[in-house]
Amino acid sequence: MAIGRGHLLDLESLSAEEITTILDTTRTFREVIDRDIKKVPTLRGITVVNLFFEPSTRTRISFELAEKRLSADTVNFSKATSSVQKGESLKDTIQNIEAMRTDMVVIRHSSPGAAHYLTQCCNSAVINAGDGSHAHPTQALLDIFTIREKYKRIKDLRVLIVGDIKHSRVARSNIWGLKKLGAQVAICGPSTLLPYEVEKMGVEVFTDIDEALEGVDIVNILRIQLERQDAGFFPTLREYTELYGINMERLKKLNAGFTILHPGPMNRGVEISDEVAEHSDAVILEQVTNGVAVRMSVLYLLMHKEPVSVSEGVEV
Ligand code: CP
Repeated sequence: MAIGRGHLLDLESLSAEEITTILDTTRTFREVIDRDIKKVPTLRGITVVNLFFEPSTRTRISFELAEKRLSADTVNFSKATSSVQKGESLKDTIQNIEAMRTDMVVIRHSSPGAAHYLTQCCNSAVINAGDGSHAHPTQALLDIFTIREKYKRIKDLRVLIVGDIKHSRVARSNIWGLKKLGAQVAICGPSTLLPYEVEKMGVEVFTDIDEALEGVDIVNILRIQLERQDAGFFPTLREYTELYGINMERLKKLNAGFTILHPGPMNRGVEISDEVAEHSDAVILEQVTNGVAVRMSVLYLLMHKEPVSVSEGVEV
């Protein structure tokens, strides 16, 4: 299977079958990263460039670990120490890097469409690690994988995404992926932080959190982007916390057997209380662990194009 014609740019352009293949393959790699020796020779000889134009902790380290676990050679680019500071364009940057005979690019960039643009000006397989507010496909895949591991299905689960939906690439990619696999998806936030005509994505829309939480199985809590707090989207952080923050009292409205997700980084005491972040049904660190396996799966499928089983292809 070639993911999205040889690249992974978003989940919108993938079929339910393609998403399921990535998740099934992730299961295999999840077993690999739990072994004493976590390394397989699957991408030996392949060079991956991690092109990060924006800050990242989880995604950058997770991709680098995934590449190393697959025995790929990895090169890390950061904007601050590159010739972008001297005015070099994205196109010239990637073409110069590719001239050194690299094979894959993982890109995070503040501009929506940056990953797609790279596919037009280089020959490498491109993986989108987050482009502006557009898409963050591997985050959504790891969220969906984490949910599927617990419930053994996605279909008909009720998932609520809370927070700054308007600026969130995580929300968009989760909505596309979850809907394709048959989940019932709702979103909730202040009306100023909800995208225009978002209901056309097939989600239920709430502005009242206590109403939104009723009967929900999974709540995915988004970071309030502190850099936007002076932009007039909500009056004060304290008011946001009061109206939308997820605390122990609000968890009582969820269905029995609920699960709490957060893509990170968290602002404890703002969108999520300390008690909720540490709750036994919060799978926030499990998401991070699964992220490495999801990225191994994506890297593997882009290079090999076939599903893998535990018994073939990943043995040391
Ligand atoms: N979830 C996520 O994308 O985190 P980072 O910004 O740390 O990569």
